[in-house]
Amino acid sequence: MQTLLNQVKEIFDNEQFIFPPEHLYQPIDYTLRLGGKRIRPLLLLAANQMFGGNPAQVHNAALGIETFHNFTLLHDDLMDKSPLRRGQPTVYRKWDENTAILSGDTMFALAWRYFLRQPHPRLHDILNCFNETAIQVCEGQQYDMDFEQRQNVTLDEYMLMIRYKTAVLLAAALKIGALYASAPDTDIDNLFQFGIHLGLAFQLQDDLLDAFGNTDTFGKQTGQDIRDNKKTYLILTALQTAPQPLRDELTALFSSTPADTNPKVQRVLQIYSDLGIRSQVEQAIDQQFLQAASCLDQIQVPDQNKTPLRDLAGTLSGRKK
Ligand code: IPE
Ligand code: IPE
Ligand code: MG
Ligand code: MG
Ligand code: MG
Repeated sequence: MQTLLNQVKEIFDNEQFIFPPEHLYQPIDYTLRLGGKRIRPLLLLAANQMFGGNPAQVHNAALGIETFHNFTLLHDDLMDKSPLRRGQPTVYRKWDENTAILSGDTMFALAWRYFLRQPHPRLHDILNCFNETAIQVCEGQQYDMDFEQRQNVTLDEYMLMIRYKTAVLLAAALKIGALYASAPDTDIDNLFQFGIHLGLAFQLQDDLLDAFGNTDTFGKQTGQDIRDNKKTYLILTALQTAPQPLRDELTALFSSTPADTNPKVQRVLQIYSDLGIRSQVEQAIDQQFLQAASCLDQIQVPDQNKTPLRDLAGTLSGRKK
């Protein structure tokens, strides 16, 4: 896995992101150089390697998938009013809202340019997978915003929302890596399902860290989902678990937009602690990791080829950022 991490780092270190006009490209360079975990290109490279692919052939796809992910972050931070990402001010805060919109739009187009740089007999399937995924991410983001206004969101609706906004991109990264290596269709299906479960676990963790993580380690301001009335797994589980008066209080809190959000965040966190929400979410996360592992087991390659993806899933399972 270390080799793959180094490969991803090298790909980004060797790429130039600044061109005129500077005000368009500086925020792109800022975001891509801050890095983050770069999970999606790692998954893409690992999947390609698992099926004996040629790493040089997926270099541009790795850039493409990560550039697309970072585009979603520029817009997401604006939509969620998030001040911090990767421990630094978000683009719309460091520059302004229009910059986040336009630099973000450019990154979406740049992602296509990266993919188009590398000819491949299955490029049509690869780009189709990429584009359908991009549409689903936007659909997921719309559900996420719609749910801010709704008080009757079900856990099933929530799971569908996070499948779209987060899981499909991890799954697509894996699938694209495998397509470049001309993997068999059944293996690609299992790999995709592995990515879905990994992605669901990943977003559940993100929700958990948003409530109980440490801002310095997580790199994002905690309590943001509570401030935004996001219908996360935490609040939905709390609403199911809480006795009537507490349920009414939570519903009222999650429909409110107070000027000072700190007391609201403190109160919700207190209720989560009293109800033991953390361990309930942890169980849901473990469940997704187990399902992911069983999908990986079904893939027909020598077991040693699965080591990087197993290690990656293992590292993610204990993540604090
Ligand atoms: C953040 O993604 C958005 C989610 C889907 C939760 P990451 O947690 O992968 O963010 P970076 O790229 O590592 O910063
Ligand atoms: C992220 O969901 C999904 C996408 C960016 C598409 P969040 O809004 O929870 O991600 P963070 O927590 O801001 O990274
Ligand atoms: Mg966000
Ligand atoms: Mg969001
Ligand atoms: Mg989040």
